Amino acid sequence: MTDLISYQSGKPDFVKAAAQQVLSKQAFDEAFQEITQWQGYGATPLYSLPSLAKDLELGTLCYKDEGPRFGLASFKALGGAYAALHVLKREIERRMGQSVTLEEIRTGQWAQEVADVTLTSATDGNHGRSLAWGCQMIGAPCRIYIHAQVSEGRAQAMQALGAEVIRIEGDYDASVDQCRREAQRYGWFVVSDTSWPGYNQPPRDVMAGYGVMAREVFDSLTEAPTHIFLQAGVGGLAAAMAASLRQLWGKKSPRIVVVEPDFAPCLFESARAGAMTVFDIKQETIMAGLSCGAPSPLAWEILQNEVSDFLSISDDLIGPAMVQLVRPSGDDPKIEAGESGVAGLAALMSVCQLSDMRQKLGLDHKSRVLLIGSEGVTDPVIYNQIMQDVSN
Ligand SMILES: Cc1ncc(COP(=O)(O)O)c(C=O)c1O
Repeated sequence: MTDLISYQSGKPDFVKAAAQQVLSKQAFDEAFQEITQWQGYGATPLYSLPSLAKDLELGTLCYKDEGPRFGLASFKALGGAYAALHVLKREIERRMGQSVTLEEIRTGQWAQEVADVTLTSATDGNHGRSLAWGCQMIGAPCRIYIHAQVSEGRAQAMQALGAEVIRIEGDYDASVDQCRREAQRYGWFVVSDTSWPGYNQPPRDVMAGYGVMAREVFDSLTEAPTHIFLQAGVGGLAAAMAASLRQLWGKKSPRIVVVEPDFAPCLFESARAGAMTVFDIKQETIMAGLSCGAPSPLAWEILQNEVSDFLSISDDLIGPAMVQLVRPSGDDPKIEAGESGVAGLAALMSVCQLSDMRQKLGLDHKSRVLLIGSEGVTDPVIYNQIMQDVSN
């Protein structure tokens, strides 16, 4: 099943303040300059899928594959590690009473001081992996809180990067609470991808890091897409893309469609209520990275102004979308993508079959649709299981 709320009446046609002020162009530029210096940086592929576009009766369809991002298999590599550098910069500047650059921290010039600052976060997998990787790169101790449903494969991936992983009972929101409480008690520094009242800077840096994807897309396309489908958990990815694309393309920036699971539609419900709303998660979705009950207020500030439509989709759409990518139509490239990474595609495939939704979203044979494939195979066991289930 696919539900649609059209929140704005079509695409907002001027650059809203939130897309400039919450995340400034300068913040995106700084993140781009820093991240493109990291070892192993390369723009991720932006694939054209002409056969699928034809099948869906669209003009063009592009898929940005975040699978190869820094060898971490998801776009999250851009956020947590970048925000970690900023947290360390601020703390070392405070301790030393002098200004310090991100490059100095990254290249080990403050190694002794960095080793004394513990960074921590809650995660459903991908953000924690990015933070663990960043901490390993910089030499800072890392503690990651995961909830009961996070797969063992994802926990092990973070341990392999040197993080201490703490599994709690309860859901993602409970893991965020526990992480915050323990950090306060022991003097650790939270590097979260979601914000809360009084805690904004690290999630802002996380989102600035995500803006690298928007720059890469902007640099590779000659014409702006008409639509972008963005899967959301707390909304950071969608907000960063929305703000950055609006800054880069202005009035030509695409209509933004946010996609969430039926089991965790906190932004969808916020749009319906006209105010940020917490959703009480009763069941865990297969889209593990999107299982968030509380929006990030910082992200919502942007999304409430920039998003045209919110979609909520059921879990059964995910397997077929993963199969579609790996066994493509015609000569389209073969792409391996994880459960959360294909949510935008799953929603698109679903709405294209529903003429009223297609019409409401303004999708037709001239549409140029962009998808962000936000993860590759982040957990091979789950990936193979889903493939097997769909094939049976
Ligand atoms: C693969 C993947 N896609 C999308 C998202 C959603 O990002 P956000 O929580 O910033 O909305 C996540 C979050 O963990 C994710 O792991």
